[in-house]
Amino acid sequence: MSGIPHDHYEPKSNAGKYMHRRLPIIGLIYDTIMIPTPKNLNWMWIWGIVLVFCLVLQIVTGIVLAMHYTADVNMAFASVEHIMRNVNGGHMLRYLHQNGAMLFFLAVYLHMARSMYYGSYKTPREITWIIGMLIYLLMMATAFMGYVLPWGQMSFWGATVITGLFGAVPGIGDMLQAWILGGPAVDNAALTRFFSLHYLLPFVILGLVIVHVWAFHTTGNNNPTGVEVRRGSKEEAEKDTLPFWPYFVMKDLFALAVILALFWALVAFMPNFLGHTDNYIEADPLVTPPEIVPEWYFLPFYAILRAFTSDVWIVIAVNWLSFGIIDATFFGVLAMFGAIFVWALMPWLDTSSVRSGRYRPMFKMFFWVFIVNFVVLTWVGAMPAEGIYTTISLIGTTYWFAYFLVILPWLGLSEKATTPPATIEEDFNESIRQQMERSGKTSSGPEPERVPAE
Ligand code: HEM
Repeated sequence: MSGIPHDHYEPKSNAGKYMHRRLPIIGLIYDTIMIPTPKNLNWMWIWGIVLVFCLVLQIVTGIVLAMHYTADVNMAFASVEHIMRNVNGGHMLRYLHQNGAMLFFLAVYLHMARSMYYGSYKTPREITWIIGMLIYLLMMATAFMGYVLPWGQMSFWGATVITGLFGAVPGIGDMLQAWILGGPAVDNAALTRFFSLHYLLPFVILGLVIVHVWAFHTTGNNNPTGVEVRRGSKEEAEKDTLPFWPYFVMKDLFALAVILALFWALVAFMPNFLGHTDNYIEADPLVTPPEIVPEWYFLPFYAILRAFTSDVWIVIAVNWLSFGIIDATFFGVLAMFGAIFVWALMPWLDTSSVRSGRYRPMFKMFFWVFIVNFVVLTWVGAMPAEGIYTTISLIGTTYWFAYFLVILPWLGLSEKATTPPATIEEDFNESIRQQMERSGKTSSGPEPERVPAE
């Protein structure tokens, strides 16, 4: 696929030409921020910028926190208290970092849901999607290790439960768990390596984000219609797009400002609202908390992990067929990782030739059930793993796998989609017309003026 034709950077001054011949960095920045962007993008396309902001926020606040934190089991808890009480602005930094992780996950889930609804993962954007999935996995690893650092009760017991899952791998489990922890239990070796990796991984994520942006700049953005920008000529492409600067930068910054106002209200007035009180008790390997609950963004997977108790028929069957090697715990682990794996395979599981869900009436229905199911799994993940809650988890998990492995492939073959507009321009003009109609005006006014190149 050839790129969208547009004006490229042409240095005017002698200094500009000198630089451009040797290091075309201004050209690179210019081409990046002036990239032609479909002009019909809606508000669900703001989450990418929110994610970039979150990554920067986490790195900046994290670096300062690391200046005052001590990764030693005897001092970690106290060093966090020291940050909260003695370091200038320390409590603000910590609350920003802690709640920043939550905003990061909220944004990533909405960003992924947007991609799922509008088919942004479909050809030719599979690589963008897969890089995104790698970022998501690294985000989960980073958040998990970060949560261990304050060395509270939930840090310690969460780490014990999660690393214990590796212990469930048949044959090599104990060895694997000890290798991950650097010893037989969660202790100093685990804390120091988690700190080291927690510092490193955000920079790996940053590298992947650059590749992610590179990938979707190569294909061009998707948009709510799923129809591609016309690439026959620059004039044609300009009818479907507007340059990213200033139009989308301003739109994204406006959205970011609104989100940050809400975020700041949370950080300033109720910073512990989404956290667990037990993490203000120092880790004690001799006292198990009444319930071990991960942070909310892990809960759907925690529900899937715990859905498969040893009395579920499929667990009994697999256990029998594998001569007892795969027990209920290992089955749960496989289901949890499998749930993310099938999600990553979406570009190949969705067989529909129509990209955007807007024109797929049946897909829409199943998609919204998927979203509701995700919320239900989040809720049930925080409940005790017994009685009705395991049944709900099991139903939710079944729908999760059915959605990716059965419903998506089947819908693509059997569903009758409506016809998308021929061009992005057509969709854009139609939405302007509808807005005008709603506000009682008749003319759509002049086209927005383009900022001239340079
Ligand atoms: C640190 C995390 C991430 C950052 C900073 C990031 C950034 C961005 C940005 C700036 C865009 C373009 C604007 C937008 O669509 O909002 C984008 C597009 C996209 N992202 Fe991400 N992303 C991240 C994680 C993910 C994840 C986890 C996935 C899915 C697994 C994903 C899938 C996609 C897809 C498919 C597109 C293309 C959408 C289009 O072409 O319109 N991203 N990303």
